[in-house]
Amino acid sequence: VSRCRLRPTASADLPALVALERAAFSDPWTAAMLREALAEPSTLSLVAEDDAGTFLGAVLARHAAGEGEILSIAVDPARRGAGHGRTLLDGALAALAAAGAGTVWLEVRRSNEAAQRLYAAAGFVAVGVRRGYYRDPTEDAVVLRRDLAPALS
Ligand SMILES: CC(C)(COP(=O)(O)OP(=O)(O)OC[C@H]1O[C@@H](n2cnc3c(N)ncnc32)[C@H](O)[C@@H]1OP(=O)(O)O)[C@@H](O)C(=O)NCCC(=O)NCCS
Repeated sequence: VSRCRLRPTASADLPALVALERAAFSDPWTAAMLREALAEPSTLSLVAEDDAGTFLGAVLARHAAGEGEILSIAVDPARRGAGHGRTLLDGALAALAAAGAGTVWLEVRRSNEAAQRLYAAAGFVAVGVRRGYYRDPTEDAVVLRRDLAPALS
């Protein structure tokens, strides 16, 4: 069981989010991209921290017209395998459901087995492939979907 708590992202989290992107992704979002996403009213963003307030990871999602999308989820490399990723994902799904999303979509690199297992365990199903979707390195995206209603509503 993950020992962490979730809270909404604050603007003071931006440096930690940038560092997390760099540590977790070969094609990280920049500070400008993160700032722009966080300014969107449709964006939902949660930070996971431990009891001491140490930053463990974060999730970014967005919702529109009854659909949700997980944009980015990552856990500090030194803190993985402790359930924080699942806690972040569940928190984002609950927030998307509360915002009215009935279906949630996401894309994941075809080679990213850890993330795909996390998503499968959380009820996501592969529904398609986007060829050459990712850069640095170029790679296919697997498109996953999870229907939320009524379980989380
Ligand atoms: C994917 C990621 C967020 C998982 O975070 P985490 O805190 O380590 O995950 P959890 O401890 O909550 O694990 C949840 C489930 O994910 C799967 N999983 C996590 N790490 C895994 C690994 N290294 N290998 C295989 N499965 C793994 C398992 O199914 C696990 O459930 P289990 O422990 O009951 O077997 C983390 O590995 C990460 O930050 N990766 C880099 C960023 C990334 O790839 N994000 C997804 C982009 S779409």
